Amino acid sequence: MLERTLVMIKPDGVQRNLIGKVISIFEENGLKVVALKKTKLSKEQAKAFYIVHKERPFYEDLTTYMSSGPIVAMVLEGENAIQRVREIMGATDPKEAKEGTIRRLFAIDKEKNTVHGSDSPESAKKEIPFFFSEQELLDVA
Ligand code: CMP
Repeated sequence: MLERTLVMIKPDGVQRNLIGKVISIFEENGLKVVALKKTKLSKEQAKAFYIVHKERPFYEDLTTYMSSGPIVAMVLEGENAIQRVREIMGATDPKEAKEGTIRRLFAIDKEKNTVHGSDSPESAKKEIPFFFSEQELLDVA
């Protein structure tokens, strides 16, 4: 099924100049960039984005970290894009991520793990409009 998913390059990825490398890995795997922007989340926006984790012990630290510097948000499209992006990113904890995955290659730790990708079609449906209007989602010609 052709799907769209929301990906973020987190502050640790942007700070360490990994934007191009991360996007290349997705593109080399056949995913198409249908929308892209660099932005900075306020603490309130980070809290809203990660609202599903509000009861978790890491929620406060995570939202402080995610609002600490610029991020890059993008919408990627492809066959089974949601699951494929999750596989390409690797496990949340880089120590558990498979060889060759983005998090194994670049993540610092469980929190500063370089990338975020929607975890389900329901999440993608909420996360894409969080960053992009319908007009900003451009089909690849
Ligand atoms: P992400 O895919 O963006 O979704 C939720 C984020 O919470 C996750 O990546 C991590 O950055 C962070 N996270 C998840 N579990 C932990 C944890 N145990 N400790 C710290 N941060 C976590």
